[in-house]
Amino acid sequence: LQGFFDEKVLAGKQVLLTAGPTFEPIDAVRGITNISSGKMGYALARACRDAGAEVTLVSGPTALAAPVNVRLLPVQTASEMYQAVLSEVGRSDVFISVAAVADYRVKNRSEHKLKKGDAVPAIELEENPDILATVAGLPAAPFCVGFAAESQNLLDFAEQKRKRKKVPLLVANLAQQAMGADHNEVVLLDDSGQHPLPALPKDEVGRAIVAHLARSLNR
Ligand code: CTP
Ligand code: CA
Repeated sequence: LQGFFDEKVLAGKQVLLTAGPTFEPIDAVRGITNISSGKMGYALARACRDAGAEVTLVSGPTALAAPVNVRLLPVQTASEMYQAVLSEVGRSDVFISVAAVADYRVKNRSEHKLKKGDAVPAIELEENPDILATVAGLPAAPFCVGFAAESQNLLDFAEQKRKRKKVPLLVANLAQQAMGADHNEVVLLDDSGQHPLPALPKDEVGRAIVAHLARSLNR
C-alpha cells in the first residue's frame, strides 16, 4: 500500500485515463463489445491519484466501484469516449489509454429491437476513431501512454503499435492472461528499450507504471 510518507511523484499533474470496454449498439437491446473488466485502468487511476495527480477517468461500462477522489466520466460508445477525451485533453499533462476500444461500430443500427422472424439481419460496420493516435498527434499533446493486448508476437506487435501511434510509452501484455484477472505481467516499451515487470497484482502493476511514468516525465 501507498504509505503516508511516500513521495507524491505526480504531484501537480493532471492525468486523463480511459478504461473498460466500449459498447456499440446493434439495436435497442444488443451490442458489440470488447472483453475488458476495467480492472487495470481503474488500478492505474488509483495509482495516479495516490501519487498526487488530479485524475479524470473516462470509463466504458464496467462492474467496478468508482474510485474515490477521481473524476469519473461514464461513456458507452467509442464515439462518446472520443468526445469526452477530446474535451478534457487540453488541460491534461498525461493521457493513459487503457480502454479496450471497439475498432468498429454498427453502421445500420436499429432504434428498435430486431425481431426474430424478420429477415436474418446483416450487421454493417464502420471504423471508430483511434482515440490514442488522435491525442498523440495533437500539436500540444500530453505525454501519452498506450496499452497493447496482443494474443501473439507480443513484443514485435507492441513495438510496431508504439511507433505507429507515436506514443513515448507503451504497456504490452498478453490478452489471454490479463483479461478479467487480478494479476498482470507486462512489459514497458519506450525509447530506452524493453522493461519487463514480474507478474503482480494489478494495483502493483499500476504503481510500477506510475513510477516509470514519473521518471519519464522528469527526463
Ligand atoms: N485505442 C484507442 N482508440 C481506438 C483503438 C485503440 O485509443 N479506436 C488505444 C487503446 O486504448 C490502446 C491502444 O490504442 O491504448 C492499442 O489498442 P489496440 O486495440 O491494441 O490497437 P489497434 O491499433 O486497435 O490495433 P489492433 O486492434 O488491430 O491490434
Ligand atoms: Ca483494436
